[in-house]
Amino acid sequence: MKPLKFPHRSHGDRLPSSSFTPIYSNFLKDKSRFPFALFQRKLNKSRSPSTYSQKKQPFANAVMAVGPYLPPRFSVAPMMDCTDNHYRTLARLISKHAWLYTEMITAETIVHQKDNLDRFLAYSPEQHPIVLQIGGSNLESLAKATELANEYHYDEINFNCGCPSSKVAGHGCFGVRLMLDPMFVGEAMSVIAANTDVPVTVKCRIGVDDHDSYNELCDFIYKVSSLSPTRHFIIHSRKALLNGISPAENRSIPPLKYEYFYGLLRDFPDLRFTINGGITCIGEVNAAIRAGAHGVMVGRAAYNNPWQTLGHVDSTIYDSREVSSVWRFCFGKVRTETKCPGCGEAFTPSFLFRAWKWPVEAQS
Ligand SMILES: Cc1cc2nc3c(=O)[nH]c(=O)nc-3n(C[C@H](O)[C@H](O)[C@H](O)COP(=O)(O)O)c2cc1C
Repeated sequence: MKPLKFPHRSHGDRLPSSSFTPIYSNFLKDKSRFPFALFQRKLNKSRSPSTYSQKKQPFANAVMAVGPYLPPRFSVAPMMDCTDNHYRTLARLISKHAWLYTEMITAETIVHQKDNLDRFLAYSPEQHPIVLQIGGSNLESLAKATELANEYHYDEINFNCGCPSSKVAGHGCFGVRLMLDPMFVGEAMSVIAANTDVPVTVKCRIGVDDHDSYNELCDFIYKVSSLSPTRHFIIHSRKALLNGISPAENRSIPPLKYEYFYGLLRDFPDLRFTINGGITCIGEVNAAIRAGAHGVMVGRAAYNNPWQTLGHVDSTIYDSREVSSVWRFCFGKVRTETKCPGCGEAFTPSFLFRAWKWPVEAQS
């Protein structure tokens, strides 16, 4: 087996002495959740380079090992006990283009189960493009887990910096707790990147407990992207509370602050950002893309309502005219059955026409 790679740690060489102060931070004050259209106007007006983008960034012009990196326009979020092989198979039948994320798998699990890896890492080739999400806080395990995962040819490796569960962020000291140690995350991402040839990305929240200012978020992004080849961040646009509330409550109690996300788009023009959190339909996905998001990640809506959400992705987001397997199934049924097995509505020409037009309607 090849030796694991641990890039030399040289924070002092790479980071400027002062931490980063975004010039747009005042804009964020008093703005909570406002419509995407409003963001669009603000964004277009203020896309001039910030003080930050004029500073030298060690990895600023780096391309990922596989060439210039474009984040997925639409992805299904990693969800423990949900985005397993079964769900991903279903999702791929509905959308050919959506990127699919695995559930988080800890680096330790991969390392300890190295003789049983198929159980955790195998998937059918149809599931491409697919991203492996790993979690952990031990550099050696992260390096080894990444190396072991190479054999499974995931399209990207994502590092979990957003999980608030007490097992993970509490005893485990990883997940969202890592947002409090951006230097470590930078180092972890370097280690992961050094052991794989595919792009590496971070999924995080916008803050933790009282560490929830826009400047602290910028500091995290700046340090991680300066210390590692990470060029793409997925931002679950609410902070995490580590005060004992459940993971489910942590997905509803802290308010969504999309303005932080759009602030990052302006302040880090060399990086790529995917918005996540609270997006429930394809119309909102489109609005976020129009407002400048490089990518949109949908979790619960894609799981609870896969047909309504994913059924529109290929035609609406990817402008694809190809017919997915499920569409083909439905049209195949038309020949043998008289009504839709799902909703019971009769397969009349008008029903079919409406079904074909759904994705278009969802844009308006
Ligand atoms: C049941 C469940 C399990 C989750 N597991 C993970 C996980 O393993 N890794 C992760 O980064 N996020 C996880 N999340 C968070 C989602 O990826 C996503 O960030 C969150 O649900 C907000 O997006 P949404 O509003 O579109 O659902 C989970 C969410 C749910 C509902």
